[in-house]
Amino acid sequence: MCRPAVLFLTVVAVVIVVASVVGAVKPVVIPPTRNATTEAALIIVPAGKISGLAYKPLATTIQHVSSAKLWIVLLTDWLAGFPNPAELPIGVSDATSALKKQGMLSDNVFLAGHSLGGENVAPYGTKHGKKRLKGVLLYGAYMTRLDVPLTDYPVPVMHLSGDLDGRVRITRIADTFQELQQSVSKNQSAMYRTPVVIMRGVNHAQFASGPVPAKMTFYDLKAEVSSATAYQLIANQTAAFITTSLAVPGEDLTNAKNILNSSYSETNAIFEPLLRLKAFDVNTHNSDVWGVSAQVQMSRLSNYSIRVTNQILTSEKDFVTSKPSIDTTSPGTPLVRTLSHVRYVPNPGDLPTFTHSPMYVAVKMKSFAAIHNATHLQPGISTNITCKDINEV
Ligand SMILES: *[C@@H]1O[C@H](CO)[C@@H](O)[C@H](O)[C@H]1NC(C)=O
Ligand SMILES: *[C@@H]1O[C@H](CO)[C@@H](O)[C@H](O)[C@H]1NC(C)=O
Ligand SMILES: *[C@@H]1O[C@H](CO)[C@@H](O)[C@H](O)[C@H]1NC(C)=O
Ligand SMILES: *[C@@H]1O[C@H](CO)[C@@H](O)[C@H](O)[C@H]1NC(C)=O
Ligand SMILES: *[C@@H]1O[C@H](CO)[C@@H](O)[C@H](O)[C@H]1NC(C)=O
Ligand SMILES: *[C@@H]1O[C@H](CO)[C@@H](O)[C@H](O)[C@H]1NC(C)=O
Ligand SMILES: *[C@@H]1O[C@H](CO)[C@@H](O)[C@H](O)[C@H]1NC(C)=O
Repeated sequence: MCRPAVLFLTVVAVVIVVASVVGAVKPVVIPPTRNATTEAALIIVPAGKISGLAYKPLATTIQHVSSAKLWIVLLTDWLAGFPNPAELPIGVSDATSALKKQGMLSDNVFLAGHSLGGENVAPYGTKHGKKRLKGVLLYGAYMTRLDVPLTDYPVPVMHLSGDLDGRVRITRIADTFQELQQSVSKNQSAMYRTPVVIMRGVNHAQFASGPVPAKMTFYDLKAEVSSATAYQLIANQTAAFITTSLAVPGEDLTNAKNILNSSYSETNAIFEPLLRLKAFDVNTHNSDVWGVSAQVQMSRLSNYSIRVTNQILTSEKDFVTSKPSIDTTSPGTPLVRTLSHVRYVPNPGDLPTFTHSPMYVAVKMKSFAAIHNATHLQPGISTNITCKDINEV
């Protein structure tokens, strides 16, 4: 059990030593292309095995769209090509010094990370965001369950990804969107402070340019928009998020809020069917919809002559020893109590590329004969039903 942990610590220690000796990460500053009263900077951390310079086309598109005097810093030359927690703090402070040196006056610094870059940027923001950043952007990445809840993140944070992302799938982002829905229901302005936005037709790789690493191509889906369109979509959302986070009153702020407000509605529409399906076995009643439906099928009493409830048992052991029951003692229609156990692929580290839907749903039901015997109800159809029939229904 403890071997991998020791190995991991050793790797981190080696990275820290090597990083402090070499100081490998290099900030490449792209100066602003316009003058404006609001000045800001966006530091971009690349995906694993992608050069920081591959984000140049996205960077110039963001500068073009943003109404701010916007500096961009591309962080490149990571150890072995992988952004990591040891080099990131050095990279961010080197970038900040480089900006000051080249004449940036404000401290409106935003940090974006793509894919593995985002995985590193999220916990960095949790730790140092309050002091060093005005906001964090996760491109094709997400805050894991090991991090803080969205509402407790110290600075504004945006999740931005494509619906054709095959690596960080929208089934995982759906959970984060659900967190956002809950905070929006309490305070509408959560849609500006912690937006979760899905762009249609965009895949995982499209934040960058140039060759895509084989590992990324392996999982990713085929994009349905051109790179130029993808940069536009990403830039519009990024610029709007920077503007709402800085909250300088004016027309720009109103426009930016309108963009994030419509993104929230559009993303809501994308997630609606997914979240409805998820609620079949993850809901506040802790009741499995499949289990109820299967039991109704099994009884062959399709017209409300019985009532069926279901309880999801989290522990497999409890499920194995549990028994379904029929209650004919209470007044009204007989009540059949069923039980379910929902099994997922174990994913304690909350890693991407794990399937998110259940591996299986096991249901304990009463047989047709037992229901008939206990309730004396006559079924309309007399043929037996099999598990295969139920699964097909
Ligand atoms: C911004 O203003 C400064 C000082 O007036 C000027 O030197 C610089 O060229 C301007 N930059 C742009 C992009 O217009
Ligand atoms: C909603 O959140 C915003 C930004 O975090 C805050 O300024 C505002 O006071 C909150 N409104 C309410 C009613 O809590
Ligand atoms: C977002 O837009 C809708 C519809 O236009 C509006 O009712 C709502 O108040 C807006 N929300 C915020 C937080 O501005
Ligand atoms: C980006 O925003 C601009 C200005 O609102 C708009 O004209 C353009 O269509 C947007 N681009 C995309 C790809 O949505
Ligand atoms: C039928 O019901 C009787 C009593 O109501 C019970 O003793 C018997 O075991 C039941 N048979 C089946 C197959 O459930
Ligand atoms: C449904 O209910 C009606 C009357 O309550 C009954 O005649 C019928 O046999 C029941 N069963 C089915 C399967 O329709
Ligand atoms: C249904 O299954 C029961 C129990 O296995 C069996 O006794 C009965 O004959 C079957 N009925 C039909 C119509 O196949």
